[in-house]
Amino acid sequence: MTVPIIIDCDPGHDDALAIMLAAADPAVDLLAITTVAGNQTLEKTTLNARRVCTVAGITDVPIAAGCARPLLQPLSVADDVHGASGLDGPRFPEPTVDVVPEHAVELMRRILVEHPEPVTLVPTAPLTNIALLLTRYPECASRIREIVLMGGSTERGNRTPAAEFNVYTDPEAADIVLRGGVPVTMCGLNVTHQALATPEVVARFAGLGTELGTVCAELLTFFASTYLRLWGMPHPPLHDPVAVARVIDPAIVDCVDANVAVELRGTHTRGATVVDPHGYLGRPANARVAVALDREAFWDRMVAAVTALGARTP
Ligand code: BDR
Ligand code: CA
Repeated sequence: MTVPIIIDCDPGHDDALAIMLAAADPAVDLLAITTVAGNQTLEKTTLNARRVCTVAGITDVPIAAGCARPLLQPLSVADDVHGASGLDGPRFPEPTVDVVPEHAVELMRRILVEHPEPVTLVPTAPLTNIALLLTRYPECASRIREIVLMGGSTERGNRTPAAEFNVYTDPEAADIVLRGGVPVTMCGLNVTHQALATPEVVARFAGLGTELGTVCAELLTFFASTYLRLWGMPHPPLHDPVAVARVIDPAIVDCVDANVAVELRGTHTRGATVVDPHGYLGRPANARVAVALDREAFWDRMVAAVTALGARTP
């Protein structure tokens, strides 16, 4: 069965590869790409989505721009991680694919209403667009099969000691999504840090001998330099494609049921995801929380997607 999905993203190096995986893997049908402010401004993340689709030959998927800032707080971009463009490293050709003249939330609503089957949402960015969709169009909730997101962590953060970037950037939006009654799977740092792009992985992309394989290798090489500089990590974690991989084949990403709450008021912990797999708080589980990655299957799927897309492009 092919799972219809919409990816909501802020490209971003790992978002770029998440788009490629979602566009090429035969287990999913990518209905739309929506963008939001996060790693960079909305203008830049949207341009980057167009760049990625152009270089990857993804010409048949609508791209729509969404929210330019978080629900309540000002935007704070991750230019330290992704560079001034949000996608530093490769030289991209002039984009030839454009955005559709519809707000991301309106496009999502229309697809959800019109599609014959419930659709899975895969947010790999701050959850502003998704929260707006659920609050403005609550009737859409029953048309969402599930929300499989990259964000949060069972452990510590990467933007503050306690908070992961996507949740920290818009904690109120994450809170709305987790309390929205739609099934949620959370792929947090604890599992995405198992998807390390080692030199062997980078060599697999470079060795494809296509323009796209080279672009992926250059993206990962830039990302590696960032992770080494900021965190002393020799190999960067490829966060966002893990959420797509969970939809493609749930066996690639093991999960446990747990209650997840977003800290909205903490003096030092705003944006932290408080995950309670042992039920200390006596609250019902509201999420599946990813805990383990089948690394080999993950990278095989990722390389297969880039291989397939590379065969489409000159
Ligand atoms: C998340 O933050 C962003 O910088 C990445 O694209 C990913 O979605 C990881 O914390
Ligand atoms: Ca992202």
